[in-house]
Amino acid sequence: MCVIEPIIRTVNLHKVFRMGQEKVHALNGVNLSIDRGEFVAILGTSGSGKSTLLNMLAGLEKPSKGEIHVGGVALEKLNERQLAKFRQLNIGFVFQSYHLIPTLTAQENVALGLIFKGVPRKKRDAMAKNMLANVGLANRMKHKPSELSGGQQQRVSIARAFVDQPKIVFADEPTGNLDSRTSEEVMELIRGMATDFKQTLVMVTHDEDTALHANRIFHIIDGKLDRIQTKTKEETHEITE
Ligand SMILES: Nc1ncnc2c1ncn2[C@@H]1O[C@H](COP(=O)(O)OP(=O)(O)OP(=O)(O)O)[C@@H](O)[C@H]1O
Ligand SMILES: [Mg+2]
Repeated sequence: MCVIEPIIRTVNLHKVFRMGQEKVHALNGVNLSIDRGEFVAILGTSGSGKSTLLNMLAGLEKPSKGEIHVGGVALEKLNERQLAKFRQLNIGFVFQSYHLIPTLTAQENVALGLIFKGVPRKKRDAMAKNMLANVGLANRMKHKPSELSGGQQQRVSIARAFVDQPKIVFADEPTGNLDSRTSEEVMELIRGMATDFKQTLVMVTHDEDTALHANRIFHIIDGKLDRIQTKTKEETHEITE
């Protein structure tokens, strides 16, 4: 019998932020597992702990307690340097607030990670251009972030996360600043890329319609996994009279 090890697994994950005397319990014992190649959405209201959870799964933040296994590696045991290397080799991240470098053009922002990976200049220029064209920004390659709209910056940040075809892409509200039509287009694009590159995709959203693009929806309430919704055929077809 073949046992499939999930690509991401957490055990009793807790995160407590200390604010002077006060403690904020952002995550209260999350146990979840995500299979290789799955597209999962983390859905919850503002402040429910979605970004905290995503940052932890991606090795951007350390848990207060609990375990995070990604591709068989226990992230909570790695030091900062090892975590940075792990992220560079395996992970793409779309930040809720983009985190683009203000002095670089769209193309340079998308290509930046490729420099650290030793990809030759011509190749990384071509890869960045191609990815920016995919997200509908072929005519904005030379613009700096301050010369782009919020939605355009968001799409640059999506292009940057996908350009290197990482094994896992984490996306925090990737369509949060897009109108509904562009949002649909970008969701289809993201899902298509993840399928083509056989990537695992973990997306945070507060929007139920956006979450429905995923195969499974993890509902987060007050830092806890409340329930898992598996999309069945019936649920995807709305019945109208
Ligand atoms: N660095 C921090 N220091 C203190 N408290 C924090 C910190 N980061 C998050 N929190 C708190 O933890 C809780 C969860 O925050 P988180 O950012 O994960 O929410 P979220 O679900 O992503 O919300 P949103 O949809 O608004 O982005 C919130 O109550 C927030 O105030
Ligand atoms: Mg958030």
